[in-house]
Parts: sequence; C-alpha cells; structure tokens
Amino acid sequence: MKKVLITGSGGLVGSEACFFFRDKKFKIIGIENNTRKKFFGKAGDISKNYNALKKEIKNFRNYNVDIRDKNKLEKVFQREKKKLDLIIHCAAQPSHDYSYDNPVEDFNVNANGTLNLLYLTKKYCKNAVFIFMSTNKVYGDRVNFLKFKKKGMRFIPKSNSIKKGVSELMSIDNSMHSVFGASKVAADVLVQEFGKYYGLKTTVLRGGCLTGYRHAGVPLHGFLSHLVKSCVNNKKYNVIGYSGLQVRDNLHANDLAAMFWHIYLKPNRGAVYNVGGGKFSNCSVLEAIKYAELYSKKKMKLKFIKKPRKGDHKWWITDMTKFKKDYPNWKQQYTSKMIIAEMVKKYSK
Ligand SMILES: NC(=O)c1ccc[n+]([C@@H]2O[C@H](COP(=O)([O-])OP(=O)(O)OC[C@H]3O[C@@H](n4cnc5c(N)ncnc54)[C@H](O)[C@@H]3O)[C@@H](O)[C@H]2O)c1
Repeated sequence: MKKVLITGSGGLVGSEACFFFRDKKFKIIGIENNTRKKFFGKAGDISKNYNALKKEIKNFRNYNVDIRDKNKLEKVFQREKKKLDLIIHCAAQPSHDYSYDNPVEDFNVNANGTLNLLYLTKKYCKNAVFIFMSTNKVYGDRVNFLKFKKKGMRFIPKSNSIKKGVSELMSIDNSMHSVFGASKVAADVLVQEFGKYYGLKTTVLRGGCLTGYRHAGVPLHGFLSHLVKSCVNNKKYNVIGYSGLQVRDNLHANDLAAMFWHIYLKPNRGAVYNVGGGKFSNCSVLEAIKYAELYSKKKMKLKFIKKPRKGDHKWWITDMTKFKKDYPNWKQQYTSKMIIAEMVKKYSK
C-alpha cells in the first residue's frame, strides 16, 4: 500500500487531499495540531474536518505534532519512513493580516517548518515526491502595478498583455509582500533548492484562492467560505477596499488534490507552477455576493470599508498554461458558481 504524509491534514487543502488519496487507496499519515484555532479563534477550529477524517478514513493516522518542533517531527519520520511515497506540505500560517502582528511566529511556521520537513525528507526518504503549497503572494502586490478599469461588477485589466492571467514569469522582487508573503518566498525557494541542489523530487504550487466548503473561513483567511457563511448565517460581511470590484480566481481543493495526483505520477525536481481557478473559475467580491444571495435566497448585510488591505490584489487570474502543458490529463471540475452553490448547501444544514 502506498503511503502519503500530509501536513495541515485538518485544514482545507490537507483534509481534501486526505480524502482524495484515500480513494486512491493510499495509507494516510497526517500532521495536524489545530494551530488554525490558535491563529484565528473558534471560527478557525478544524475539529470538524479532523473528526470526519478519523471517522471516514480507515487507514488514517494523525500526529498531533507542530512542524516547528524538529525533534518530534523527526520521530514521525523515523516511524513512518518506510514506503513514504509522497509528502504534501499544507500546514501554514496563511494570513497577511495575522503576520503583521506576529512576524516571528509566521516565519517560524512557514519558513522554518518547511525547512524541517525538507531536511527530514532528505534524511529519511529522499525518493518521496514532495509537494509544497506556496502562494501567489510570493509575487507581492506587483500585479497592482498594472492598470485596471471597471467593467460591470469587476475590475478588468486595461492591457491585453495579461489576457491569459499571471504566469510564473512575473518577478517576485521589488513589490510589497507582507511578512506572510516573505516567509512563503523563503519556503518556496527552499523547496526549489532541495530539488535543484539536492536532487529531491520537489514541486512548488503557487496558489491563487484555494477554496471549498471544508474551509474554516474567518475574516482574516478564506474569503469565499467566510463570505458564504456570513450570508447563510445572516451575519454582517465587511467588503474591504476597491468597492468589492477586486477579482479572485478560485480553485476548489478537490481540483487541487487532483493536481497532486498528477504530480505524483510524473514528478519533477524543483518545479514551480502557478495554480488557481484561472479563466475557468473566478469572480469579484461583488459577484460572489450576488451568487451567495441568489443560491441562499437571502440578502446579505454588507458594510463597505473604503481603505483596502495593505497590498491586497486588485485582480488576480492565474495563467494555467505551464501546468496544463506539463499535466495535460488534469481536468478542472469546479467553477466559482459551483463552489458557492456547494457552500450554500453545506453551510445551510
Ligand atoms: N486557502 C487559500 O486561499 C490559499 C491560497 C494560496 C496558498 N495557500 C496555501 O495552501 C496551504 C493550505 O492552505 P489552507 O487554506 O488549507 O489552510 P488551512 O489553515 O485551512 O490549513 C492549514 C492547516 O495547518 C495547520 N497548521 C498550521 N500551523 C501548523 C503547525 N505549526 N504545525 C502543525 N499544523 C499546523 C492548521 O491547524 C491548519 O489546519 C497553506 O500553505 C497556504 O498558505 C492557501
């Protein structure tokens, strides 16, 4: 039986990956200690996902270990190293705003935690495929240097040069990243180096908005989940900056898990891809509100805040050309409308 180690196994991406690889008949080893609840309070609690994993996956074993704790992590690798075929690293401090007040904690989790995992992979299972969830925030706010205009309920770029979306060719230098963006750059480059320099089978995926109903969405992270929950539960939702015209591309975590599968089948060394909903799945905040209201048959209570978040993207659509070229058998299933409809259904129960 093949074996996959998934960090952040109770989070959005981690839990979806656990279920996906269960269906591929893998044994699942999780690393999860509910740090998300510590970061974001009760609404960030991932216990629901964790309990579902325990209940629904026979071959699931979770270690309540912090990825910052190298000694405890090493014990996990010593115990599990035999036939560890795949490592999917999703555990992170995922929010810009949280990193503003907690820079050391952010860097320790995102950069040092990733280095611990890479080091132990090299030491104990150097043939395993290693996939790291990076972020489009490694490009900082550079996309905002482009010019946009309003069209309907969203921004669109003025220039045709970015028609296909943002590719891996965008520079990561000379823009504002936030501490979160910077700690992810550090981890991102480390993962590349363990591929290029040490020869491990590493891949970096720079995500746009990753989403799905399993997200414990909070105001500081997981915008679509937080927005739909606010709608369904009649709670006020703050539209922060840009009058809600900012555009996000939304990739369902299940579509992302299918990417992991294709990378596992055809790994690379130090590869980097931008991954997101792309042209297939994107919406502005105003459009997301429109669809949440339509599917839930509720009117949202909105508060418009003029000042945008520091460095917040005005527009992001991922150019998926590189990933699709290398993995032509990957098929995207979920549009943003489908994702919102699914969330409304799940959160209304
Ligand atoms: N969700 C997005 O929109 C998005 C976008 C781009 C990139 N990403 C990246 O994808 C990855 C997964 O994101 P997600 O949305 O599933 O996040 P998530 O917060 O839902 O899941 C991460 C999980 O990691 C756990 N965790 C955090 N710190 C830990 C630690 N020190 N030790 C052990 N476990 C720890 C948390 O408890 C949480 O359950 C992250 O690396 C994130 O930066 C997410």
